[in-house]
Amino acid sequence: MKADLIIYNIGELVSFRNGPLARVSEDNAVIVRDAGIAVRGGVIVAVGRSGEIRSRFEGETLDAQGLLATPGLVDPHTHLVFAGSREDEFNLKLQGVSYSEILARGGGIYRTVKATLEAGFNDLLSRAAKAASLMLSHGTTTVEVKSGYALSLEGELKMLKVVKALGEASKITVIPTLLAHVPPREYRESSLEYARHFAEIMVPAVSREKLAVYVDVFCDRGAFNVEESRIIIEAGLKHGLRARMHADQLAYIGCSKLAAELPIDSLDHLEKMPEENARILAEKGVTAVLTPTSIMAMMELKKPPIEALRKAGVTIAVASDYNPNNMTPLQQTAMDIAPYILNLTPLEALAAATVNAAKSLNMHHKLGSISEGYRADIVLWELENYKWIGYMWGYNKALAVLKDGIIVHEKI
Ligand code: NIG
Ligand code: FE
Repeated sequence: MKADLIIYNIGELVSFRNGPLARVSEDNAVIVRDAGIAVRGGVIVAVGRSGEIRSRFEGETLDAQGLLATPGLVDPHTHLVFAGSREDEFNLKLQGVSYSEILARGGGIYRTVKATLEAGFNDLLSRAAKAASLMLSHGTTTVEVKSGYALSLEGELKMLKVVKALGEASKITVIPTLLAHVPPREYRESSLEYARHFAEIMVPAVSREKLAVYVDVFCDRGAFNVEESRIIIEAGLKHGLRARMHADQLAYIGCSKLAAELPIDSLDHLEKMPEENARILAEKGVTAVLTPTSIMAMMELKKPPIEALRKAGVTIAVASDYNPNNMTPLQQTAMDIAPYILNLTPLEALAAATVNAAKSLNMHHKLGSISEGYRADIVLWELENYKWIGYMWGYNKALAVLKDGIIVHEKI
């Protein structure tokens, strides 16, 4: 049979079939030694032993040189489009000034809003494209990108048009999200009014122009409360968007409970979530998207209730949460430090950065697995086997990255 590409001599192939996975173990992983993959039309057409794949298929070949192969990484939470930087706030946080205090003083997100509004379209796009190419070369083949640094209809539309242009210019798959980040400063005493404006004007406009797949809201102290968040999420759902939500990151004001009432694909952060709410996520099939590098960037090392999430059987994903408060665009790093920060095993961390992240984006039928019929997004790692994930870290271990069956980064 004809194939466009045959990858052979894979030392160990690790993937997950029939995801998402709540309780990740070797029993529900697919681990094939001396493996091969056949690709046609950007899609995986066969996975098996190296010799078998080579004898069944004809076409161009790639020698994986005994390396570890995994699905391409899926990064389900980023604020990739922004201008400016906040390195002085990095210092403030080191001196004990909290993220919330910086935000309340008009810094943080508000500073980035100012810089982003001042930046031109092409400037935003070229910065985003640079980060996206770093992502690709480190194994991220799909990325969710949020708006949220403009806080006006016109500005958010501009941001989402940059996101769209990024998706067209880059090989990375981009999933766009309309984010209600914070109320503008002038609405501080009337945030409900802004939430209504967001729901009644901004959501329908974005939906009409098909500029977002998801709606998201930063539900937290200092951003939007539960009532305001409900209004925003309901408007998104009504206008054909799917929903995800920042919840319980800075304080617990009841945000994660909203998932009991509304169909929300993912709750993100959850550092302050009470343990008993894990049950809601498990029952409703909501993915917990945890953000280990962002936990570090907060400099408080407050961790989500990981044991309660595990026990309840919640699907756990990780994300880079790249933003000007957390200046790493790499899902590889989030995956690698997940064992240290979140106590995930290497196999859990891999599932969290691939199949479970795809599930949080409702893409797990096409992405996040090395299985027949899936897009051929594959990473070859400079690692002996999956047990080295997280164990060896701090530099780029992606030796080859394939996106839709095409090599987009290669060091071998
Ligand atoms: O996911 N928490 C809200 N949003 C971002 C931070 C954005 C910013 O500080 O610019 C986050 O951590
Ligand atoms: Fe965020």
